[in-house]
Amino acid sequence: MSDGIKIALDNVSIYYGPSMALKGVTFGIEKNRILGVIGPAGSGKTAFLRALNRLGDLDLGCRIEGKILMDGGDIYADDVDVVALRRKIGMLFALPIALPMSIYDNISYGPRLAGIRRRGDLEELVEYSLQSSFLWDEVKDRLHTSGLRLSGGQQQRLCLARVLAMKPQVILLDEPCSGLDPISTAKIEEALISLKDNHTIVLVTNNTKQAARVADNTAFFLMGELIELGATQQMFVAPAKKQTDEYISGRFG
Ligand SMILES: Nc1ncnc2c1ncn2[C@@H]1O[C@H](COP(=O)(O)OP(=O)(O)OP(=O)(O)O)[C@@H](O)[C@H]1O
Ligand SMILES: [Mg+2]
Repeated sequence: MSDGIKIALDNVSIYYGPSMALKGVTFGIEKNRILGVIGPAGSGKTAFLRALNRLGDLDLGCRIEGKILMDGGDIYADDVDVVALRRKIGMLFALPIALPMSIYDNISYGPRLAGIRRRGDLEELVEYSLQSSFLWDEVKDRLHTSGLRLSGGQQQRLCLARVLAMKPQVILLDEPCSGLDPISTAKIEEALISLKDNHTIVLVTNNTKQAARVADNTAFFLMGELIELGATQQMFVAPAKKQTDEYISGRFG
């Protein structure tokens, strides 16, 4: 059933100064599955996500304890090339920000920086990425117009295409649909479901219904603690913990 564990967390804690954003979590993220991460504001969802591709390295005062292994290798080991790591583990943020350049260049920029130069290769990559982010049909006739002229929902799919162009193994998404129209939200959800054939996906969402729709497994965080993690279906039908039940049924307070 499972393809195994892609990322293993062993007693991982995240500190900002003296305060703990994540408190000693241990679990595995299954390969080629979607892990939904839910929980109220300040529960450590973003801190957790940033730790997975070492974006926390950039936060002043952020410190990580414990081990995070990808395919068995410690991503915090001294000899890890962080730039290469972030190519393998792409990230999409809540606010879609297209670069002030054409749709085509938005997507081909990263691959060109990474050394892909042949025009045919780049064209193929642009089409693949736009197809995979469910944006191709809407933009195929205007690839050379500015990415900034797209709607917010289209820009978010363009940002997803930009991540996909780097052919990441893991895709991290931090509330990617907050503020998007329902059609763009549905397209992103569809894209994620088809992308999991070849990618491991971690989806932080403030919309529990979204986790119920797309996540194979769901983790519920509360004040830095992992309260519950399990198969999404199971968790939404019969949560094991009272706090989970209260949160997903909206009776949280
Ligand atoms: N850069 C930072 N500096 C100091 N403290 C931080 C920083 N980032 C996060 N924290 C703290 O870590 C805790 C977890 O924050 P985090 O952003 O992970 O929450 P979240 O679950 O993503 O919340 P939200 O749903 O509002 O996005 C909070 O108490 C927050 O104040
Ligand atoms: Mg957050």
